[in-house]
Amino acid sequence: MAARSKQFIERQALHRKLLALWQQGQSPYCEVRGSEIHGRGVYARCFIPGKTRICEYVGEIIDKKQSARRGVALHAKSMETGDAAVYIFTLSKNFDIDGNVPWNTARLINHSCSPNCEAWIEGRRIFIHALRDIRAGEELTYDYGFDVDCYEEHPCRCGEPECVGHIVSREQWPELRKLLKSKRGKKPS
Ligand SMILES: C[S@@+](CC[C@H](N)C(=O)[O-])C[C@H]1O[C@@H](n2cnc3c(N)ncnc32)[C@H](O)[C@@H]1O
Ligand SMILES: [Zn+2]
Repeated sequence: MAARSKQFIERQALHRKLLALWQQGQSPYCEVRGSEIHGRGVYARCFIPGKTRICEYVGEIIDKKQSARRGVALHAKSMETGDAAVYIFTLSKNFDIDGNVPWNTARLINHSCSPNCEAWIEGRRIFIHALRDIRAGEELTYDYGFDVDCYEEHPCRCGEPECVGHIVSREQWPELRKLLKSKRGKKPS
């Protein structure tokens, strides 16, 4: 009897921990739906005023070695299956967050060349903030900040009028434009 009640208490404690973990990745401001940009995306449930902290990007904090290992494994998987989204987010010089956990709603936010959100690193946590007022039903997006070196691997389908065609950090657009121009110049007419 005592053993059974100990097990019951442990299960209850575990349940509470799991619930808290789940809730950390949810937000009253957004929900997951199919996206026209790619796969699933995250949408505003209601009007969101600019600067609002919308949700947290949650996951496992890992060091750079572990992060590189997981990155290599994901790359191998993408070569094999053609589909392996990366959910690893740079946290600091020494650590990343692997957000590949089902309760991390923010992992499904797509990239846009004209984003309405931005990720802010606050200590050892990452939060998604609204860059401007967001209408109810709008898809939430942020700039993935990918490096221009691997632009060819990441075509962009954000559909924005100013879309640059590849998922590349806005800061590196001038470099990307030069690369695209020289590539076009090399094509036989
Ligand atoms: C972290 S996931 C985002 C969620 C994804 N839509 C899903 O359903 O799993 C990142 C992947 O989504 C896709 N993606 C995100 N934004 C995109 C965009 N603007 N254009 C094309 N693909 C995009 C890319 O395949 C990228 O590697
Ligand atoms: Zn784009």
